[in-house]
Amino acid sequence: MSVPALPFLMRRTALRGAGLSVAAALWSATPRTRASAASAGASAYSLEPAPGTAALLGTGQPHTSVWAYNTRVPGPVLRLRQSEPFRSIVRNGLAEGTTVHWHGIRLPNAMDGVPFLTQKPIAPNGTFTYAFTPPDAGTFWYHPHEHTAAEMGRGMAGALIVEEIEPPAFDRDLLWVLQDWELEPNGSLLPGFDTFMQAAMAGRIGNVVTINGSRRTDVPLRAGERIRLRLVNACLARFMALRFAGHRVVVMALDGQPVTQPFAPAGGRVLIAPAQRVDLLLDTVGDPGSRYQVTDDFYGGRLTYRLTELAYTNQPRLHPRLPAQPPILKPNPVPILDLRAPVRHRLTIVGGMMGGMGGGGSMMGGMGIMADGKPTSTSAIWGIRGPHGMNDGMEPIFTIPVGRTALITLENQTRWWHPMHLHGYSFTVLSRNGVAARYPHLRDTVVLRPNETVTFAFAADNPGNWMFHCHVIEHQATGLMTVIRVA
Ligand code: C2O
Ligand code: CU
Ligand code: CU
Repeated sequence: MSVPALPFLMRRTALRGAGLSVAAALWSATPRTRASAASAGASAYSLEPAPGTAALLGTGQPHTSVWAYNTRVPGPVLRLRQSEPFRSIVRNGLAEGTTVHWHGIRLPNAMDGVPFLTQKPIAPNGTFTYAFTPPDAGTFWYHPHEHTAAEMGRGMAGALIVEEIEPPAFDRDLLWVLQDWELEPNGSLLPGFDTFMQAAMAGRIGNVVTINGSRRTDVPLRAGERIRLRLVNACLARFMALRFAGHRVVVMALDGQPVTQPFAPAGGRVLIAPAQRVDLLLDTVGDPGSRYQVTDDFYGGRLTYRLTELAYTNQPRLHPRLPAQPPILKPNPVPILDLRAPVRHRLTIVGGMMGGMGGGGSMMGGMGIMADGKPTSTSAIWGIRGPHGMNDGMEPIFTIPVGRTALITLENQTRWWHPMHLHGYSFTVLSRNGVAARYPHLRDTVVLRPNETVTFAFAADNPGNWMFHCHVIEHQATGLMTVIRVA
C-alpha cells in the first residue's frame, strides 16, 4: 500500500473553495471511498461503519482488525460550513447496533445520536439520516454512542470540522486525530473492552498512540509557516499533555470555541483530555532540515513517550518573518449568559476504586453521579448496564426550564480524573475550587481532577434530553452518566 507523502496536511488554498469531496480525497490514502459533497444540503454524505483493517503500526507492519467508517480509521474528515445544512445517511455494516453522535455540535436533540434517548439504535443493515445546520465554526468530532467502548475502541471516530464563513489567516490547516490502542506485537487488538478493573480505575489505556490512524515517526513541515494545528483526543481513556520542543504554541480554541484571549499553555504543556479538542497556533520557526520532538508527559516518568517529530523539509522559509499577533478567530454565536437568576444544581461524582460510595465504604465499584445530595438511581451509582444499552430506564436528573440559565456546581469526590461532557451545549467554566476564571472558557468537556469542584453555566435555549457523562468511556459505561432535561 502506498501512502501519500502528507496525507494529513491539508492546504488551505485547496480547502477554501472545496466541498467535502475534495477534503476527503486530500485526506485519504484510498480515494475509492471518495465521498459526494454534502454542503449544498441536496445530497447526504454517506457514512458506513463496518469491520475493516488498518495499518496502525505503520506501513510494512502487521495490520489490525478494526471497525471503521468508510473503511478508514479514523473515519473520513467531514468538512462542513458554518450555517450551512448538513445531512448524513448512516448505513450500518456492523453486526450490532450503532448510532452517530456529533460531539460538541449544538444541534436538535433528535439528531444527537444517543440510543434509547434520542433514537433507536441503527440495526445491522439499517440506515438513519442525520440532518443539522452547525451554528458554530471549529473543531468537532463524531463517534458512536452505542456500545461505545467496543465500537470507538475498535476505531470508530472521526473529525468534524466546521469551517468559518471567513477563513482566518493561517497558511495551513493541520489535523491530528489522536487514538490510543492496546495492541499485541502482531498488531491485533487485545480483547476486553469494558472490564471491571478498567472501569473502576483509569479506564482502558493502551500502548500505541496513533496520529490520523497510524504511528508516525515524523510529521513533515515547512519552515516559515503559520499553522493551525487541530488536536482531537479520540482516545477511550488516555489524557495527554503535549510538549512541542523548540516551538511556542498558542491556544486559539478549546472544544471548537475560540478563546477570548489566545494564550501560551502553562509550562508549555498542552493538556487534552479524552473528547477534548485544542486548536493551536504553531509557527514553524525551526530551520529547514531540523527536527523537534513532540512528547506526551501527562502520566510522567517512564510513561512519557515521543508522540512524533516535527521534521522540517529542506524547502526555504515560506515567509521570512511571521507576524507577532495571532490571527483572530471570531466568536461563535453561543447565547450570552444571564447570571442574575440562574437555576442552580449541584452534582457530585462518587465511586470508583478506593472511592467509597456515599458512606457505604465500598473499596471498589462503578462511579456515579449524585444530584443535590441524592443518588440518581441505583444503576447510575453502580454502573449496571441495562439489557438495552447504557441509557435503559435513565430518568433525567433534573429539568432546566427553556430560556433559563443553568448554573451547575460539579464536585469530584473520587480519586480519579474525569473529563465531564454535556451534549448539545457549549458551557462556560466559571470557576475551579472557588477561584473565578480570569477568561472563562467555553467547553463541552471539562476536566475534574480528584477532589476538584468546578462551576459552569449555560443558557438553556435548546430543549431536549441531553446526556451528561464522563468521557473516559469505561466510566461512562459503568454509571458515570446522567441526563439533563431542558424543557
Ligand atoms: Cu463524545 Cu456522549 O459523547
Ligand atoms: Cu457529545
Ligand atoms: Cu471518569
